[in-house]
Amino acid sequence: MKRTLIKNVHNELGNIVTIKGWIDVARNQGKMAFFDFRDVSGKVQGVVFDKPEVMEVAKTLRPEWVVAVTGIVNERNDKSAKEFKENLANTGTREFFIKDVEIEITEIEVLNQADTPTFEITESTGGINEEVRLKNRYLDLRTERMQNNMQMRHRVAKLCRDYLDEQGFLELETPILTKSTPEGARDYVVPARLSPHQFYALPQSPQQYKQLLMSSGMERYFQFARCMRDEDLRGDRQPEFTQLDLEISFATEEDIITLNEELLVKIVTELYPEKRIQQIPFPRISYTESMEKYGNDRPDLREDKNDPNVLAFCWIVDFPFFEKTADSDDPQAQGEWTFTHNPFSLSKPEHIENLKSRQNIKDIVAAQYDIVLNGYEIGGGSVRAHDPEILQSILRILGHSDEKIETNFGHMLRALGSGTPPHGGIAWGFDRLMMILQNEKTIREVIAFPKNGEGRDPMMDSPSEISQEQLDELHLELKPLKKES
Ligand code: AMO
Repeated sequence: MKRTLIKNVHNELGNIVTIKGWIDVARNQGKMAFFDFRDVSGKVQGVVFDKPEVMEVAKTLRPEWVVAVTGIVNERNDKSAKEFKENLANTGTREFFIKDVEIEITEIEVLNQADTPTFEITESTGGINEEVRLKNRYLDLRTERMQNNMQMRHRVAKLCRDYLDEQGFLELETPILTKSTPEGARDYVVPARLSPHQFYALPQSPQQYKQLLMSSGMERYFQFARCMRDEDLRGDRQPEFTQLDLEISFATEEDIITLNEELLVKIVTELYPEKRIQQIPFPRISYTESMEKYGNDRPDLREDKNDPNVLAFCWIVDFPFFEKTADSDDPQAQGEWTFTHNPFSLSKPEHIENLKSRQNIKDIVAAQYDIVLNGYEIGGGSVRAHDPEILQSILRILGHSDEKIETNFGHMLRALGSGTPPHGGIAWGFDRLMMILQNEKTIREVIAFPKNGEGRDPMMDSPSEISQEQLDELHLELKPLKKES
């Protein structure tokens, strides 16, 4: 029989349906058996009674077995059915667990058996040891909370895609095997078999490629881009994360801010109607003011921090372009200039002369902006230097020799010199945005297969050793590990 999704069982009162899914709960009471069944769309109760041959199968069923169940859809009239109906009438939202109907089972087919799950799937796994959850991520993702996180992640991404498509953006992919880019973090590198002793770097962001797409006349680009950064991990940092990355030709800072604000408001009003944005338009605070008033550049502006449904967005603008590397790990770099965001930004128009002449460096203000939500930096971007002379001047301020500029940035300078329009863009930390919208505490809760705090995947057991043949093919030799003192 044709499969009915559990959320639609509800519309089949009095009819015979077949559902396919997992056994969430099994309660065998001798002559009768009760089950909660679960599929991607919801949960529903089923009951076997007065059917000795079905009872024979029902008795054997265990949680997480996969079954096809056929039966008649009956109305339920108990207390939880009443509450479910009232809630549906009052709010119009239907809960995941469909409680106004149940299935009187006439046939059960076992599609697959299951080992006893390591932890309860019926409850939130928030309190379970995370290592155990990650090792059994396929089980963890079956829980209602994680299913909801994944479904909402999809819906937010889809809304972004549809909106950007309507606005004339092209969704384009950029390479994963690429070259080291100066984003500020350590690169992950990949040995190149066909070019011995040479390495690709995994992208820290598609920054250079997206600018090159502006040189290529694409005008409006976006991508859900996977970015890799080898840095110390935190609740809001993963070695591999997703950006909603975009770039626009002929755009001013104001154009970019307005478009992003419109999209963020649309996400909240259409997909999170229970949430309230504290202030629209989003307040804009200069970097200097933010540091003075809040002591950081990602202030949590919520008036009521106890309410999980308040969203306090703000823009942080007017960043200093350069800062001294006083807190750099590299003693040689101490006291040199470094960029605060990335070297491809432009300054505010009134500071362009200083950029060109390399004067009053510490006072140069960049055309850069960060978007902050409830105390988290959820995105950042800038208007870019599209004049090759200006980019060259910036790279010289950063202390790059002309030779290094040519090796690392020659392609960018030539592209800018080939007729590149003025352009700018932004990238959102998509995982961070989803974490806040889903009221989660870490981005690991909104990523299907995240790494643990040591950057490992305990399920796949990666990273892992590779074979001697693979090392030989790559012309690699491993040095013995130094003993930790
Ligand atoms: P930036 O480096 O600020 O800008 O990154 C953009 C946003 O990505 C998120 N983010 C992270 N999220 C999870 N784990 C990480 N390790 C991590 N690192 C950053 C943050 C951040 O705001 N190319 C520029 C964007 C541009 O200028 O257009 C860039 O990558 O939310």
